[in-house]
Amino acid sequence: MHNEFGGSWTQTKIEILEKYAEAYLHIMSKQKFHLTYFDGFAGSGDIKIGNEEDFKIIAGAAKKIVAIGVPRSFDIYYFVEMDTQKRDLLEYALKTIRATNNISVVAEDCNVVLKRLAEYLRADVSRKALVFLDPFGMNLNWESVEILKGLGVDLWILSPTGVGANRLLKKDLKISEAWWQRLEKFFGIERQVIKESIYDEHLETDLFGSRTVTRKSTLANQKLFEIYAERLKTVFSLISDPYVIVNKNNSLMYHFFCASNNASAIKIANDIVKQYNKKSS
Ligand SMILES: C[S@@+](CC[C@H](N)C(=O)[O-])C[C@H]1O[C@@H](n2cnc3c(N)ncnc32)[C@H](O)[C@@H]1O
Repeated sequence: MHNEFGGSWTQTKIEILEKYAEAYLHIMSKQKFHLTYFDGFAGSGDIKIGNEEDFKIIAGAAKKIVAIGVPRSFDIYYFVEMDTQKRDLLEYALKTIRATNNISVVAEDCNVVLKRLAEYLRADVSRKALVFLDPFGMNLNWESVEILKGLGVDLWILSPTGVGANRLLKKDLKISEAWWQRLEKFFGIERQVIKESIYDEHLETDLFGSRTVTRKSTLANQKLFEIYAERLKTVFSLISDPYVIVNKNNSLMYHFFCASNNASAIKIANDIVKQYNKKSS
């Protein structure tokens, strides 16, 4: 059983994270912090990319990060994967790479475990964490991100701007109550604010009179990314430029970027992201 998703961008996303983790560990090797690596949507260890006729299996982010050992590794690794079968596979794979007892793999909801991570970090200022949040869709709640405020966290996050938020926001505004609730939980803002940024109402007049017409912005993806980025800036002082992920029809799927309170972290993240955005343009 492998995670099945993505194309070459999946590999690129993992490479970006890996490069960042290497730089992070390099810098931290000269300092005396206790380092946690936390992956909230960890997967099974392997990823199948492509389609049934033409696919390959690549190592997921968890395996890549656990394999980094020079100049140092993390002090503890915490992986969260809600699917118990995937959790078991991941635990087995990781313990094969690094036979230590500092790796935990738990089958829980990341939204719950992030609260425990925040408490753990808050208890001691010498604890720092690199956090990777890589959900399929809109399954990360805003309050789980907000809880990281003021902590020594560098966060890499995959925002499902196109495949999640934009898809729920139907052109005709026929959006179910469940979808609005999902959007509100994801962005941590009220539906009215989302509605006002993405839709505009104007008066159309024809032979039979005038009526109010609602129009969805053609820049919805950009606006949704900006809303999420602004939300993140209330938690972290800085965010990096995003690695922009599009599908083969050039439709936007995700934004992948780093949030941190540390200017050097963002500089490194921007340098890495720039290389990959250049490659894919
Ligand atoms: C995009 S995949 C992660 C891929 C992984 N980062 C890798 O590189 O191999 C997302 C994973 O999150 C898991 N998941 C979904 N909702 C979750 C939740 N609320 N908490 C924890 N895991 C969740 C899914 O079962 C899936 O395996």
